[in-house]
Amino acid sequence: MLRLQGVGKSYGTVSVMRDVTFDVAAGEFIVFVGPSGCGKSTLLRMICGLETVTTGRIEIDGKLANDTPAASRGLALVFQSYALYPHMTVRQNMAFGLENLRTPKAEIEQRVAEAARMLRLENLLARRPTQLSGGQRQRVAIGRAIVREPRIFLFDEPLSNLDAELRVEMRAEIAQLHRRLATTMIYVTHDQVEAMTMADRIVVLRSGEVEQVGAPLDLYNNPANRFVAGFIGSPRMNFLDGRVTASAGGWTTIEVAGVGAIRARGMLPVGSQASIGIRPEHVQPAPGETTGAAVNLLRGQAASIEQLGASSFVRLASPALNLQIQGQTQVRFGDEIAIFLPPDRLHLFDAEGVIAPSGE
Ligand SMILES: Nc1ncnc2c1ncn2[C@@H]1O[C@H](COP(=O)(O)OP(=O)(O)OP(=O)(O)O)[C@@H](O)[C@H]1O
Ligand SMILES: [Mg+2]
Repeated sequence: MLRLQGVGKSYGTVSVMRDVTFDVAAGEFIVFVGPSGCGKSTLLRMICGLETVTTGRIEIDGKLANDTPAASRGLALVFQSYALYPHMTVRQNMAFGLENLRTPKAEIEQRVAEAARMLRLENLLARRPTQLSGGQRQRVAIGRAIVREPRIFLFDEPLSNLDAELRVEMRAEIAQLHRRLATTMIYVTHDQVEAMTMADRIVVLRSGEVEQVGAPLDLYNNPANRFVAGFIGSPRMNFLDGRVTASAGGWTTIEVAGVGAIRARGMLPVGSQASIGIRPEHVQPAPGETTGAAVNLLRGQAASIEQLGASSFVRLASPALNLQIQGQTQVRFGDEIAIFLPPDRLHLFDAEGVIAPSGE
């Protein structure tokens, strides 16, 4: 229902977005995620018509929409700052946009009542924004979008002003709202946990370009490059840099200085720079008696230990590597421990950080 094709944006001579291409299906929940300044808001504003498109095409329902005015696109944007009118009640704030469109009074009342019921605002309709909590204000801002019955909801970091607990609660509410309304939603955040938990599909952006598009677990299990690998997943993936010493039959060995030989799936030219990535939960403690000679086995000293009860984190110094262990650990600060990097859990990246081809 929404298609972006080679979309780019420049301010004067400064290019801030390049060649953005992807499709959004009707009813999908899409999350744009990426570090600050990567262009998430710019992209959202181009989709909604608040920002012009410099190159490429934006199509809505199969029709070119590059020059369609924002008001005619049938989209509703919810901002991080709720921008409620302070002198109006909750009811008036929600009704205001519809009154401007000269929607019949009875219909306005019915839509506001319906949105208020959905968002549990029925008892707050007579209050003014200053008499509401942050979460309630955010719900009013969403209510204002719902009453317009948009074809696509666009959210730009709507939860970033809320405290951690309320964020988790509102996250669940927005996901539930999406299930109930079954309307297409595009949601911007720099928080990868929000992206993982809410999205049908995630668009990962970096410096104005799309790095990868996929379902949350697709990105987690099969990151296309080192940036996505490091950005998606918490705690972050570990990386070790080395040089390729052998590559055949779909397997590559790299020599990591101070660590030894690491074998991983993928094919890369012998002699080239490479890196491997492994998630902290995939690093395995090895039986104590193993020597350093075997492949994918290494030893390191515990530089810090965090016991969280249900799980533990051990940070090794040289090589710098984080382990996440289920349950509680006996490892103590300064212990030298042996660990195993299971070859099937390794991600192999070339010198540019792109995932190595399988060679099949
Ligand atoms: N009006 C403008 N003129 C020039 N550059 C701009 C303008 N608006 C945004 N930019 C630049 O475009 C890039 C993308 O900005 P954008 O606001 O889309 O980032 P973002 O991903 O939403 O970041 P954040 O997570 O901090 O909100 C930034 O480098 C920003 O400085
Ligand atoms: Mg932004």
